[in-house]
Amino acid sequence: MSQSILVTGGAGFIGSHVVRRLVNRYPDYRIVNLDKLTYAGNLENLRDIENKPNYTFVKADILDLENIRALFRDFKFDGVIHLAAESHVDRSLTNPTEFSATNITGTLHLLIASKESWGSDKRKRYYQISTDEVYGSAHDGSKFTETTPIDPKSPYSASKASADHFVHAYFNSFGLPALISRCSNNYGPNHFPEKLIPLMIHNIITHKPLPVYGKGENVRDWLFVEDHASAIDAIFHKATPGSVYNIGGNNEWKNIDLVKYLCRLMDQKLQRADGTSEKLITYVTDRPGHDLRYAIDSTKLQSDLGWKPSVTFEQGLEKTVDWYLANAAWLSNVTSGAYQAYYNKMYSGR
Ligand code: NAD
Ligand code: TYD
Repeated sequence: MSQSILVTGGAGFIGSHVVRRLVNRYPDYRIVNLDKLTYAGNLENLRDIENKPNYTFVKADILDLENIRALFRDFKFDGVIHLAAESHVDRSLTNPTEFSATNITGTLHLLIASKESWGSDKRKRYYQISTDEVYGSAHDGSKFTETTPIDPKSPYSASKASADHFVHAYFNSFGLPALISRCSNNYGPNHFPEKLIPLMIHNIITHKPLPVYGKGENVRDWLFVEDHASAIDAIFHKATPGSVYNIGGNNEWKNIDLVKYLCRLMDQKLQRADGTSEKLITYVTDRPGHDLRYAIDSTKLQSDLGWKPSVTFEQGLEKTVDWYLANAAWLSNVTSGAYQAYYNKMYSGR
């Protein structure tokens, strides 16, 4: 094997697409997927590649530093792509300590183990998967660039921003060959139905109300998850240590417009009369401190590394809806058990 790469959080939404891409494209790399399998981690997401000879799954917690050190000794990693995180803003509002532990301390553990193994060896790579939410809310007409000041507004984004600062500190203090990328909102297959798009798809299928926060005026900039995975691949292989890249597809949507578009698409796919799904839209109490707008400028990534998205939003959303309709068992498994309690706590009486 020419390289040994640790991917954390590979059983989650984005991580599963990153692992699949790396395992299939680089048969001479050993890809080690480390995941704790929280509610968001699901090995079903990787059934198609789990028996490939260059893939290894390790169930582990990034908060267990001794185990992380042991894995570095056993697998002699050349690179780390760190995706494991608590990722849902609404959960961060009620459970911030878990976000602080996983997203900040967990990142620090990976930095510590990387530095102990590599020092400042420039042939190695530590790659932090961050989010555009660390920039806070974008003012009208402006987009986040890599030099926009960090200004997180939610406990989730505060924990991710803190992790980014630690990554930068390790690059600055110890020369750890580190990279950071900050992507906009992702959508696509394997997305846990707590986030806007898969939650709406699930509720449309099951004829449940579609809870739109506030007036639905908030804007998000959406990217198909496989395009995020291709950007991660390019940045991991080509970027210079110390660099930061924004990732996004120039695709801003007001939540209410997106939900209405999805309703029309689902009516067609489910052969329901036009307007059936839209009747399910219900405006609910807004999220506290809800960031109004995210908008990302990924010019640097496009011009430095030649990356561009492979699908339009319309194509990506259709692929996503088709995937959920073809994978009813996946959706039913992840929405049974603890999900119902979460859903009721989050949405009933709102
Ligand atoms: P996800 O919630 O779907 O998956 C997170 C994964 O991390 C799960 O498999 C979970 O089991 C694992 N995990 C959680 N705590 C762990 C721990 N202590 N030890 C080991 N594994 C643990 O998240 P996602 O949406 O795929 O996001 C992945 C990364 O990308 C995160 O770092 C997130 O901040 C970032 N990101 C997400 C988006 C988005 O739109 N979803 C956008 C930009 C950046
Ligand atoms: P989400 O998918 O949670 O991502 P993030 O908060 O990280 O951007 O939410 C996307 C947008 O959709 C955000 O403005 C909140 C809104 N939203 C709803 O209106 N209803 C919902 O049920 C959810 C989960 C989100």
